Amino acid sequence: MPTQDELKLLAAKRALDFIQPGMVVGLGSGSTATLFIKLLGEKVQQGLKIRGIASSEDSAKLGASLGIPVVGFTEATETDVTVDGADEVAPGLALIKGGGGKLLREKIVASASKKFIIVADSSKVVKKLGKFKLPIEVIPMAEPLVSERLRALGYPSSIRQAKDGSGNYITDEGNLILDCDPTQIDDPTALAAQLDTMVGVVEHGLFLGMADLVLVAGEDAITEYTP
Ligand code: A5P
Repeated sequence: MPTQDELKLLAAKRALDFIQPGMVVGLGSGSTATLFIKLLGEKVQQGLKIRGIASSEDSAKLGASLGIPVVGFTEATETDVTVDGADEVAPGLALIKGGGGKLLREKIVASASKKFIIVADSSKVVKKLGKFKLPIEVIPMAEPLVSERLRALGYPSSIRQAKDGSGNYITDEGNLILDCDPTQIDDPTALAAQLDTMVGVVEHGLFLGMADLVLVAGEDAITEYTP
């Protein structure tokens, strides 16, 4: 039986099929997107001409180290294809993202993509979003207010901690992440609307109506989900 990492690699490999010479490619973040960037880097080293727009400092560094020309939105105003991972994929291609804390730039890059492709192993597919805690990026000064507002709505949250034990996790934009536990999200659109209007929230990990294609690698095959 393939391991989860082998399944992630299979999905990442399939995403390469969507890359053509001359494209601007959005580089996602997280372990599955990292596998894709490494495969793309190999192709670039073999002569493929593309440019990348990165969704995190980590992905920008990785892409550049592999020889991918990494540019910003001053040089290209959109990506032809963006390939990224997800923490949960629900019917309608509703996603939770941000497990790696990169959701803000990921959503910016996704929003500027002609085609937004998610690569995932089958463990990410759920019937309903919300088992994975929803990451919410907040301005540090507003964190106590946002935490309290979330609590009042019935959604407890906690400030994400850095893995190295150095204290709060700080995003690429200098903000905090609240990992919010709505238990299960019955109405993602309504929750997203609440969060969109909550002052102090910079962005949240609900990616709704954004994915054009989800490539899910399972034991026997890769399943393609479209909206
Ligand atoms: C990063 O912030 C995330 O959105 C990732 O894309 C997501 O957490 C999936 O990560 P893995 O591919 O590591 O599971």
